[in-house]
Amino acid sequence: MPRLPIVAIDGPAGAGKSTIAKHLAARLNFILLDTGALYRTIALAAARAGLLEGIDPNSDHEDSSATITALAEAIAERNGISLEQDPEQPKGLRVRLDGEDVSGAIRAPEMSMGASRVSAIAGVRESLMNLQRSIAKNGGVVAEGRDMGTVVFPDSVAKFFLTASLEARAERRRLEFVERGEDIDLEEIKKNVAQRDKQDSERAIAPLKRANDAALIDSTGRSIDHILEEMEERVRAVMGHDESPS
Ligand code: DC
Repeated sequence: MPRLPIVAIDGPAGAGKSTIAKHLAARLNFILLDTGALYRTIALAAARAGLLEGIDPNSDHEDSSATITALAEAIAERNGISLEQDPEQPKGLRVRLDGEDVSGAIRAPEMSMGASRVSAIAGVRESLMNLQRSIAKNGGVVAEGRDMGTVVFPDSVAKFFLTASLEARAERRRLEFVERGEDIDLEEIKKNVAQRDKQDSERAIAPLKRANDAALIDSTGRSIDHILEEMEERVRAVMGHDESPS
């Protein structure tokens, strides 16, 4: 049987990646790999260890970077993060840190910014690389994040770069908060999303960037279903190509 592809989806915050990845994985019967959840879990562990305060992404903060790297390495070494497929979860995954269910805790707004910060640390990215590749080792995975098509799975034959206007992305995030019973000001969210994009795109290592061979999809004003149709069709076309003639 030919190896199933790894679908690589990258894009800025709020472009709809996680919703689309979740549904696409269900349609294709693929494993869902939300790599943002991994960085969020490291951010949560770092915050709990008191390591996140005062980390300015623009300043030289080698000390805390080294400590956060050591923390991430230790977590990776003991296989401390587990992602269980769970369609009942809003993001399609139950995330555990050393056995504790942190699926809700990692979605707090502070963890969005925290994840963006820890993800700029080279050692943190390295420590999560093996985990991401081992989850995808047999193919049949929908992987979403910022560097799926460029760094983690450069050989993927099904790459997408999903984007949308800042307005649309901030509004999508706001609705997610409303669903969780939180009412956060749209302007506040917009500022937050813009700052995170800037941090994620301007960092030195594995910045948010469209791979040359990634299909660009702008989700502004488009329904999730339409986008899913388009993406599923592209992936199935690739799978058809991969099959050896019988
Ligand atoms: O997709 P998300 O909002 O859950 O991601 C949280 C942060 O993690 C994001 O701001 C940048 C970082 N991240 C990353 O650097 N690389 C990835 N592959 C996924 C997420």
